[in-house]
Amino acid sequence: MTQEPVLVTYGSKRGGTAEIAQWIGDSLRGEQVAAVVKPAREVRSLSGYGAVVVGGALYSGRWHRDARRFTRHFTSQLQERPVWLFGSGPLDDSADEPGGENILGGNAVRKAANRVDARGYTIFGGRLARDARGFPASAMAKKRAGDYRDRGRIHAWAKSIAGEISRV
Ligand SMILES: Cc1cc2nc3c(=O)[nH]c(=O)nc-3n(C[C@H](O)[C@H](O)[C@H](O)COP(=O)(O)O)c2cc1C
Repeated sequence: MTQEPVLVTYGSKRGGTAEIAQWIGDSLRGEQVAAVVKPAREVRSLSGYGAVVVGGALYSGRWHRDARRFTRHFTSQLQERPVWLFGSGPLDDSADEPGGENILGGNAVRKAANRVDARGYTIFGGRLARDARGFPASAMAKKRAGDYRDRGRIHAWAKSIAGEISRV
């Protein structure tokens, strides 16, 4: 058991990425690692957190603004801690197949990971409801609505983080 909890924080517009963050928190706790799950825009300080997981939805090739701002604002504090990043986006199975680094927005996550010296980063599939509102989301939903988040892979990723933290 780590002494200080892991902060799992996220930027999400339609709730899909927020839910992934909750699943990661649940998986960590299942491995006896304390975790606090919180929206990135509500985090004022990293003191008291031993490690950080930052996630963000991918929109038009960019990582969610709250995740970007968070990593920029806390760059030096993040560099001092074990950090992992994730993006959630593709509305197909491409995130779970080889070549995932070519996903639109994947580059933004990789750059942020380099900036904060992250131990790892990954991209998970996304989710879009059939009745998503607003343009272009509503148009996209006609063709690509669905839930492409692989819960098994998310759990395995969180479990590997718990394993690394326990070894620190
Ligand atoms: C307008 C729009 C643009 C999107 N752009 C991307 C993108 O560039 N790359 C990607 O992988 N997914 C993209 N997606 C899919 C979203 O990332 C996916 O729906 C994700 O689960 C949204 O997360 P959220 O529910 O946390 O907001 C886009 C979705 C919409 C509606």
